[in-house]
Amino acid sequence: MDLYAAMRTTGAVRQFTGEPLPDDVLERILDNARFAPSGGNRQGIRVIAVRDMTTREALAELSAPGAQRYTAQIANGESPWNPLHPCGVPEETIAATEVPRGMVTPLLNAEVVLAICLDLGVAAALDQDLDRIGVISGASVYPFVWNVLLAARNEGFGGVLTTMAVAREPGVKALLGIPDQYAVAALVPLGKPAKQAKKLTRKPVADIVTRERFDGAPL
Ligand SMILES: Cc1cc2nc3c(=O)[nH]c(=O)nc-3n(C[C@H](O)[C@H](O)[C@H](O)COP(=O)(O)O)c2cc1C
Repeated sequence: MDLYAAMRTTGAVRQFTGEPLPDDVLERILDNARFAPSGGNRQGIRVIAVRDMTTREALAELSAPGAQRYTAQIANGESPWNPLHPCGVPEETIAATEVPRGMVTPLLNAEVVLAICLDLGVAAALDQDLDRIGVISGASVYPFVWNVLLAARNEGFGGVLTTMAVAREPGVKALLGIPDQYAVAALVPLGKPAKQAKKLTRKPVADIVTRERFDGAPL
């Protein structure tokens, strides 16, 4: 598949046909995704490929509270899970919010769920002493996650980067036997897309790129 075509059409896939995703295809996807960069090339990524339905049900359950808060905050006009703006929705309202099925069913209906982890013992975080939320350590794992989705697209499969379960990371780690030193970066359900987005909605270059300074002229 043409690289630019893949980049422009690899949207979030949350519905799957049920067609199998065989291990040899999965292996090929991961064999190409592993060429993603990481800080200092330390390659602290570990992936757990989960096919077992009981385990996936537990992952869906662990994703539910995060998804409830996401939905409740949107309903309250907030930017969900934003670290700069505390959640303004009461706990009881969140707990009473219906679990958005579209956010948990991909974990059940996909052919495989990849739990993608990062060894924090080798992650480089140049922003660790700054007085703000860290973002740099994520850059040692998310290029890999994106490569997985691009490679899956190239193989005729698809999926979505999900993070709702990470709000319950201790439960995910206990379920999958993940050592303390690892962070859970994403759960990625993969399968044959029921439909493929043709056009993704993204800001134009002129809205996100300026010349020379943040307040410079648009490119
Ligand atoms: C950091 C991150 C976290 C995300 N978490 C979730 C998630 O937990 N559940 C989900 O369904 N989608 C999740 N997504 C997918 C986004 O909703 C999706 O990429 C975005 O809406 C664009 O969708 P599109 O490519 O189909 O236009 C996440 C994406 C990113 C980059």
